[in-house]
Amino acid sequence: MYDEYIKNAVESFEILLRQQLERSEKLATAEAPKDFSKLDSITIGLIGGDGIGPIIMAEAKRLLMKLLADEMESGKVVLKEIEGLTIENRLALGQPVPTDVLSQIKACDVILKGPTTTPKGGTMESANVTLRRELDLYANVRPVSVPEEGIDWMFYRENTEGEYVLGSRGIEIPDNLAMDFKVTTDAGTRRIARAAFEYAKVNGKKRVSVVTKANIMKKTDGKFSKICAEVASEYPEITCDEWYIDIMTANLVNKSIRNQFEVFVLPNLYGDIITDEAAEIQGGVGTAGSANIGDHYAMFEAIHGSAPRMIEDGLANYANPSSIFKAAEMLLRHIGLIERAEKLAEALTLCCETEKKLVVTGTADGDTCKDFADYVISKL
Ligand code: IPM
Ligand code: MG
Repeated sequence: MYDEYIKNAVESFEILLRQQLERSEKLATAEAPKDFSKLDSITIGLIGGDGIGPIIMAEAKRLLMKLLADEMESGKVVLKEIEGLTIENRLALGQPVPTDVLSQIKACDVILKGPTTTPKGGTMESANVTLRRELDLYANVRPVSVPEEGIDWMFYRENTEGEYVLGSRGIEIPDNLAMDFKVTTDAGTRRIARAAFEYAKVNGKKRVSVVTKANIMKKTDGKFSKICAEVASEYPEITCDEWYIDIMTANLVNKSIRNQFEVFVLPNLYGDIITDEAAEIQGGVGTAGSANIGDHYAMFEAIHGSAPRMIEDGLANYANPSSIFKAAEMLLRHIGLIERAEKLAEALTLCCETEKKLVVTGTADGDTCKDFADYVISKL
């Protein structure tokens, strides 16, 4: 009775395999990365997103307008608002990223984006996953620091393959079984490993920790582990160690060893999970920025989601804009506006760590998103 299902599944699988092979071959022949220092003008696309997204993004826009007033005046930087990446519009059009929105995004150099809602189940792909694929944003870079504990972590999460690339294209036999696929390519692993080791080298870091579950996911994580070890051998001055994701999750809450880790490199889903854990250790997911970096585009965002519960509870105005502000800081660094990025970083350290005159808690006891943004902007 399952013959028809099996036949269809095998046919779909062949298509998936061929498409993934094609993707893998393309990766192996990548062009040289874009050099922002050579551009006369840089266009920053601003996307509100869903839930608390438009609220924190409105503050991020105000902050950028203050910080980049001179660059905007001279035409060195252009801010461009992009509408239409909302869950309502995406569902109405049946497209995770509507075609016209995608072409507007591709006309920009970098993007600052509020969180977008991802429907659970169904077949609608997450907008993030689509954008990461379409713009080939292969490195999800997430810094976490707790200065008083000596924690200074940098996560390099593989961002375009692993459990995510076919996450909306699994196979199901109704009321019986479901199967998803995880894909790891040589070229995809090599480029994220190289990004992590290069970061370590350039920033004087001594240790890169590879995190997998290669004892269980033998093919995919096995490959990830092997290729990271190969890349590590090109960096003899950097110690490379490998951990399984379960014990690494425990390590991050082990105060006696956690500050010894520096740089992490890991497959997509483990990176997703552990960076939320790490952000929570820093003070909450509302406090961490996230960069999605490719060779031609880059997209910066808050580490957290659209917070539908805050909207339901009427707490949207108490959303913490710190995470999107940190993302903005990473964006400025990426496009080479280092002095502007430093200025923002100083203001954020003052407001979030040292002076702390206003504190956003995400509840009505805390300060509002707007007041906190005013506070940060006043320090620029
Ligand atoms: C993240 C988010 C996304 C992910 C969602 C929104 C698809 O959790 O950026 O960490 O799972 O990657
Ligand atoms: Mg996540």
